[in-house]
Amino acid sequence: MRELPTAVATVMDRSGEPNPYLLGVYAPVHEEVTAEDLTVIGEIPRDLNGVYLRNGPNARYPMRGRYHWFDGDGMVHAMHFENGRARYRNRYVRTRAFEAESAEGRSLWTGVMEDTKDNPFGNGHGLNLKDSANTDLIFHRGKVLATWYLCGSPYALDPLSLETIGAETFLDTLTGDFMAHPKADARTGELFWFDYGPRPPYLRYGVVGASGAVEHLVELDLPGARLPHDLAITENHAVLMDLPLFQDLDAARQGRYKLTFDRGLPSRFGVIPRRGLAGDIRWFEAKPCYIYHVVNAWESGDEITMDVCRVARPAPNGAGTPLSRMLSYLKLDARMYRYRFDLRTGRTSEGYLDEEQNTEFPSIDARLTGYATRYAYNVSVKEAETNLFDGLIRYDNVTGERQRYRFGEHRYGSEAPFAPRDGATGEDDGYLVTFVTDEREGTSEVQILSAADLAAGPLARVLLPTRVPLGFHATWVRADQLR
Ligand SMILES: [Fe+2]
Repeated sequence: MRELPTAVATVMDRSGEPNPYLLGVYAPVHEEVTAEDLTVIGEIPRDLNGVYLRNGPNARYPMRGRYHWFDGDGMVHAMHFENGRARYRNRYVRTRAFEAESAEGRSLWTGVMEDTKDNPFGNGHGLNLKDSANTDLIFHRGKVLATWYLCGSPYALDPLSLETIGAETFLDTLTGDFMAHPKADARTGELFWFDYGPRPPYLRYGVVGASGAVEHLVELDLPGARLPHDLAITENHAVLMDLPLFQDLDAARQGRYKLTFDRGLPSRFGVIPRRGLAGDIRWFEAKPCYIYHVVNAWESGDEITMDVCRVARPAPNGAGTPLSRMLSYLKLDARMYRYRFDLRTGRTSEGYLDEEQNTEFPSIDARLTGYATRYAYNVSVKEAETNLFDGLIRYDNVTGERQRYRFGEHRYGSEAPFAPRDGATGEDDGYLVTFVTDEREGTSEVQILSAADLAAGPLARVLLPTRVPLGFHATWVRADQLR
């Protein structure tokens, strides 16, 4: 275990109010650990070979001003499985901002809840926030890319050592910034992404080809600045979003970050051929909403189906203290929802797949991104002040069946992407892997479940020597991709 020499305990930010996203299951950890020979309860399947990696915020220094959960420095926690053995490792993502703060031994940036004008530098759009690469991870061409929700530099990591290789430039072809949730087509080796910002062009859409270079890039016209978080791909198209949740520009001029939701505007979904030009995009209208995450999308004949976790009421009323507003804006409240875009008529149909369950952080068999999938593996979101994932849910698109697993009282998990077993023949022929953290014990473990039988509970639990704070997105890298 190696403690970083300049790490300082971060319990409070400087607002004077205890911030739940710095306490308990969210409290940052200050050691970078490498651990093997771990205690296993049950048996790690020998045909589970690869790495489970999860990103998330882990504030290294006490924050200047108020802390927002999105502000923390990116830290990746990883479990490497090989022939029934498991190794754990966690490392910060060494971004430019991380290195700048390390050199000073203190926080140099203020976060999204403060005036950011005096911060050292920001992203390509002039948002003067710290690009922490804390949001998602995606495997591409031998490296794992750590990405940031407001669009920043994708940081390339070694999937086993977690060493930061550096900002990924795609063979010096990347201009501007890169979104948090690019989509990889496993069949073509392409990576689809966008870049957005507060000034025109509000949205740029691009494709990194199998060559590793940006091979396609177009500027798309939007009515104004938007906050898209995700996109979808299908065999021949990409689907981009224009949703009526915006940054309040009056507030921005006063140096504040504030969101508004305009119920009078539709949601719009732009269907564009994968390498289409701006004039090729076709917009489909639907009821107003916000969407963080797409489950998957695919084509059948002239129709595109897109499943998402949809937020019907994205902006709670703005009452209360800055801390209570932050908590209410952050709280996930989403439902499984399906859109169908008819490419012949231009019509949209939409409706709930599950109107009851608050569910988010969806994942699928990543080899089928953009092609029809039967199963979605989501987390269930607990009724609580903060975001707590109290269980996993498997949705079956064909039968409508739902399988559930709950982590148990005071135990919370992470996004659990599908991990195919060696030689897998189907999209539930494998496992789900997740970190589980116990709120009362302050301990963490890894759980491995059968993707075909979640309700049976974990096949194995691997006890960790350190706590894994709750965080953001995860990915699975197969052993054959590591070679
Ligand atoms: Fe996300």
